[in-house]
Amino acid sequence: MVSRVIPVEPFDLVIFGGTGDLARRKILPGLYRRFLSGQMPPEARIIGAARTDQDDAAFRNFVGAAIKEFVPKNRCDPKAIDRFLAQISYITVDVRGDKGWNTLAKMIRSDVVQAFYFSVGPGLFGDIATRLNDYKIATPLSRIVVEKPFGRDLTSAKELNAVLAASFEEQQIYRIDHYLGKETVQNLMAVRFANVLFEPLWNAQYIDHVQITVAETVGVGGRGGYYDKSGAMRDMVQNHLMQLLCLTAMEPPAQFEPDAMRDEKLKVIRALDPVDASDIVRGQYGGDPSYLDDCENPASLTESYIALKVDISNWRWKGTPFYLRTGKRLKGRMSEIVVHFKETPHSIFDDDAGRHANILSIRLQPDEGIDLRVTIKEPGPGGMRLVDVPLDMTFADALGPEAKDVPDAYERLIMDVIRGNQTLFMRGDEVEAAWAWTDPIIERWQARRDKPKTYEAGSSGPEDALMLLHKDHRRWREIKA
Ligand code: NDP
Ligand code: BG6
Repeated sequence: MVSRVIPVEPFDLVIFGGTGDLARRKILPGLYRRFLSGQMPPEARIIGAARTDQDDAAFRNFVGAAIKEFVPKNRCDPKAIDRFLAQISYITVDVRGDKGWNTLAKMIRSDVVQAFYFSVGPGLFGDIATRLNDYKIATPLSRIVVEKPFGRDLTSAKELNAVLAASFEEQQIYRIDHYLGKETVQNLMAVRFANVLFEPLWNAQYIDHVQITVAETVGVGGRGGYYDKSGAMRDMVQNHLMQLLCLTAMEPPAQFEPDAMRDEKLKVIRALDPVDASDIVRGQYGGDPSYLDDCENPASLTESYIALKVDISNWRWKGTPFYLRTGKRLKGRMSEIVVHFKETPHSIFDDDAGRHANILSIRLQPDEGIDLRVTIKEPGPGGMRLVDVPLDMTFADALGPEAKDVPDAYERLIMDVIRGNQTLFMRGDEVEAAWAWTDPIIERWQARRDKPKTYEAGSSGPEDALMLLHKDHRRWREIKA
């Protein structure tokens, strides 16, 4: 595989929340990897900003330690790290007050791309946007990167959109959903729209159902405070799984271009039917520690697992359900989109031959790849016996070891911000439409004070989730340990 890294223009990137967990684990190590790839020009500057009072040297130590912790050892070249750190500085800023803002205004160059990454709690997003404007730091060329969660319901998302819109144009606002930056998610676009093979079959006539799974082995750990007010529906379904559903279900856009893509995704969200209560299963992991221990709330009614059946009312998908599930402390870490095609309308073979439907699975993680199961004759004597075999394309096998070294979602997305490409970011109306669909589902279980089912930590989720598919004569794909 030939590496084709295109350097970006010089930039000033300010990371508000530069001392936080996300910056430490994802943003800063990701930027170092882009630097190593030769994508970051020497004139580019990264500025960490937070309340902690420290100098550049202390922040560089913090960044160096983050790189050593989160970048594979064979890529931690001390000289390269030093050169990267030389492009980094720190400023003490209180985004709720006045401290640091005048200094920041003097630091930012007006003749390079300016990007401001809001990696702070969601309650501070509006404060930063407003101050960037009040202190005349923002210019028409500035870009802001807004982390999740983008609101907690339609009302709060609308309010946040309005606050951001008071200081920035929509073309300047990059709402992050890191699932859109994952390599295989973009490969889904390539599979669908760069092959003639699948698109003619990509509809209710040929597809029986679609399963989208994001299974995690981790619990809510130290994030219990945030998570307990959120739950799997808000934390994962409203954004990540919704985006995966949209990319799977959308019509082909005329171009792979921001508004064309986002218009098509929006149409899918607006075509989602309300979900019946009987088509939703919520769970909480048991074990030691259990979900209730982790969130330190013995009376919590928040779900750490959710499975739901979603119908899309449009010509392409009417009658083909999308089953979504996601949960914490499950048997394995596995994210995939699986398209189950229908069986052939008629079998010319004996019943004894067996019958299999084609299955296309798009694995996001681990082992990114695409696998298509096709039916063939079982080799050898014994008459016509059919067997389904995988046409497996694990990217690392097909494209060589470099394919394993794809940019992490965050690093790809940050580079897209610098390039000014919004294709893989959510537009304001898209986020609002997703909340408009999500809100009534959450409101219903809150009004009824529905208690999630307990499931065993390390299992595949609550038993009732199996029934969700069994009652439709279907089966979930196995979550592998
Ligand atoms: P942390 O609590 O670890 O970090 C918060 C950061 O904000 C710190 O750098 C803190 O530094 C800074 N901060 C807090 N108050 C102020 C203030 N008044 N002025 C300036 N800086 C301030 O949070 P995370 O890094 O975990 O999360 C950041 C954002 O990213 C959140 O919106 C979160 O939802 C989102 N996110 C995080 C993920 C993760 O894995 N961590 C995953 C997905 C999204 P100081 O105390 O020095 O001011
Ligand atoms: C985050 C959620 O957005 O995505 C977390 O807040 C979740 O709860 C994480 O663990 C999963 O991301 P990934 O990339 O590890 O699948």
